Amino acid sequence: MKRDLLRILDLSDREILSLIRSGRTWKRRGGSRRAPRPLAGKSLAMIFLKASTRTRVSFEVAMTRLGGHALFLSPLDTQIGRGEPVRDTARVLSRYTDAVMIRTFGHETAMEFAAAATVPVINGLTDGHHPCQILADLMTAAERGKDLRKMRVAFIGDGNNVANSWVEAAHVLGFDLRVACPKGYEPDPAVRKDAGRIGRGEVRIVRDPAEAARGADVLYTDVWTSMGQEAEGRKRLAAFQGYCVDAALLRRAHPGAIVMHCLPAHRGEEITEAVLEGPNSAVFDEAENRLHIQMALLEKLIKH
Ligand code: CP
Ligand code: NVA
Repeated sequence: MKRDLLRILDLSDREILSLIRSGRTWKRRGGSRRAPRPLAGKSLAMIFLKASTRTRVSFEVAMTRLGGHALFLSPLDTQIGRGEPVRDTARVLSRYTDAVMIRTFGHETAMEFAAAATVPVINGLTDGHHPCQILADLMTAAERGKDLRKMRVAFIGDGNNVANSWVEAAHVLGFDLRVACPKGYEPDPAVRKDAGRIGRGEVRIVRDPAEAARGADVLYTDVWTSMGQEAEGRKRLAAFQGYCVDAALLRRAHPGAIVMHCLPAHRGEEITEAVLEGPNSAVFDEAENRLHIQMALLEKLIKH
């Protein structure tokens, strides 16, 4: 049976911890020429219906380091952009490649793709979820000495795809997550319900960022306007006033707390320049860890 990664709930707590161990091993090996090449001769198709820097480059380099090859497919120069049905593309790519990574809008599109594909499908971000990002975030927290089963995470800002994946991670691993967001911008209630069934971890939604940040081990934020929401930009900018991760908010957190942001960041909106570039920031390690954890993920999902 092929395994897909469409959301964090597709993994167990033990699988997440094992991926992190393996990601850290790949990181220690660096790009050494003596490192194993478990995916020699394998190919990954990468479909991007939205822009990307980190996801595109980290997946492509991950495949190269594993001995395989990645293909970048954009709607501008494939039949995807001319309306070829998702299920046809999924079946055809399954005949050529060993796995597909897809970044798209509606999460249902990724689900439809995965249902038709006969090779593993990895969600490289949808409007609903961003599981690869949260795996890299968890690896970063573990590297910085946080206990993934007991830590307290404060997510400040929009209850978006990244927040939804944090909600799932909290319940899968059993840690404490507080999301501070304005009314109307909460994480998806269906995601909270599905993940809450696991019965571990606690997720609380609060309005006051200071309340969420109090005693937190990880302070996290993301943009207020995600890709595809550009028309709502002005409304969102107004709605999120007071939700900036700044030095005053960081002081509420646990001493030694780390600050993370999936990037790209809007300095002066969801995070200040001083915090993003300050001593508590782990954002560039976090970005780097996308590469290492995805090597672990590709090695796990692609049949050798
Ligand atoms: N964090 C992240 O997914 O970045 P990209 O949009 O650059 O891939
Ligand atoms: N929430 C952001 C994440 C970008 C990596 C977006 O979807 O645009």
